[in-house]
Amino acid sequence: MEEKIVSMENIIKEFSGVRVLDNVNFNIYKGKIMALVGENGAGKSTLMKILTGVYLRTSGKVLFDGEPVDFNTTKESQDKGIAFIHQELNLVRDLSIGENIFLGREPVGPGGKIKWRKLFDDSREWLTKLGLDEDPRELVKNISVGKQQMIEIAKALSLDAQVIIMDEPTGALTMSETERLFEVVKELREAGHSIVYISHRLNEIFEICDHVTVLRDGTLVGEEPIEKLDEDRIIEMMVGRKLSEQYPRVDTEIGEVVLEVKGLTNRFVENVSFQLRKGEILGVAGLVGAGRTELARTIYGVYQPESGEILVNGSPVSIKSPKDALKNGIAYLSEDRKENGIVLGMDLVENVTLASLGNYVGKIGNIDKSKERESTDRYIKSMSIKAAGRNQLLQFLSGGNQQKVALAKNLDTNPGILLLDEPTRGVDVGAKKEIYELINKYKQEGMSILMVSSEIPEILGISDRVMIMHEGRVSGTIDIAEADQEKIMTYAVGKEVS
Ligand SMILES: Nc1ncnc2c1ncn2[C@@H]1O[C@H](COP(=O)(O)OP(=O)(O)OP(=O)(O)O)[C@@H](O)[C@H]1O
Ligand SMILES: [Mg+2]
Repeated sequence: MEEKIVSMENIIKEFSGVRVLDNVNFNIYKGKIMALVGENGAGKSTLMKILTGVYLRTSGKVLFDGEPVDFNTTKESQDKGIAFIHQELNLVRDLSIGENIFLGREPVGPGGKIKWRKLFDDSREWLTKLGLDEDPRELVKNISVGKQQMIEIAKALSLDAQVIIMDEPTGALTMSETERLFEVVKELREAGHSIVYISHRLNEIFEICDHVTVLRDGTLVGEEPIEKLDEDRIIEMMVGRKLSEQYPRVDTEIGEVVLEVKGLTNRFVENVSFQLRKGEILGVAGLVGAGRTELARTIYGVYQPESGEILVNGSPVSIKSPKDALKNGIAYLSEDRKENGIVLGMDLVENVTLASLGNYVGKIGNIDKSKERESTDRYIKSMSIKAAGRNQLLQFLSGGNQQKVALAKNLDTNPGILLLDEPTRGVDVGAKKEIYELINKYKQEGMSILMVSSEIPEILGISDRVMIMHEGRVSGTIDIAEADQEKIMTYAVGKEVS
């Protein structure tokens, strides 16, 4: 019999009368890594927010080490030994790494003066443990999203918590950062800590987790030891049915060149040239830091080229800002959800039509509300967006569902050229497939799509060609018929392929 450090019993949670958790039981065993999985909006983050005092439960019981507990704030749960690494990063961007790690717990000397030296030295130790050589005095806003994620992890580790909750920690991490994280997580398990691990990447679950708890639509489907499960079985538990072919490839007739990039160079990319054709999906692979996001953002006008040319439909264009890009029919879905222009204080309708409002102007110059509602409902249906309704504010949607709205907003501008940066990050397996089907549909209608992705199966699954980048340059381009994981990785690490 496993020894429980936490047991949550018959948890019910309602938000203004809507039940999002219904009688859920969840156990955390001592010295084990517990996977918590389920589709977007299943209630994973909410359950962990209840455990840690971010939300109050409607009813149910929480036991910590056998004792009933009622945390009203995160501080209370932290004091008891529970650390929570949130899905959405919670760092203060204008403070240094070290200040973030020890925020609210700064080491103080006599007279209450902060011992800066100690704070930064201790911070450095935690960073080193995670394999980071960042200066703890560096401001958080100056480091990559992946590094920021690692800082959140360092912060949680420094609390020396008995239970550490990681809500999708690897989304923005490089492969080596992920490996390092897994080593640390295993060390923590060795030392008797318990980890709750939330992820949509099932391979990670099989790599490190001991037990799997599955939620579906706010209810508990089951808890099993990992040995009893395989990927298909977990998916079946999550979505309630067997999932056929995950990558629905469609072959369309590929037309004339729509976007041509010639010798594009700036401080991020060097001499990048490629063509994108009508009805084509060009996958862009590479390691994190290879310049893929920067390439997309340069085409979109966020960064300026120093030299080189961009041609749309055969004519050179000058793109000085995202506004210019949109004018030329180029849309961009950012990898960073906080940046991709969804507005948390607005509802689904407002977000979906935010960039395409011009298409909704009626005969007398007013906004055609019913048309707006119709198209929003279409996206809700085609992407299975889980929301209380089209008028729910985005801040109340789960992470993956916010991502889907961001994609809908881009699609609604009906761009000729769509730049997608990690389009399915944080999206569950079932919804991923729906997103691929939607992308395919637009491709069949003649949209040209450049898709940056770190998931090689996704690149192989739906692109027509793959371009691989390494250190800001294109290291190879392969037709999909010839592409496989190994070839892509070889180019991605910058090796010559014979
Ligand atoms: N503050 C809130 N007010 C109203 N509804 C909410 C609130 N927080 C979450 N919800 C709803 O609760 C449900 C569960 O959301 P939750 O964020 O727990 O999902 P999740 O399993 O973490 O999904 P994901 O994998 O997308 O992160 C969703 O339908 C969401 O819209
Ligand atoms: Mg979540």
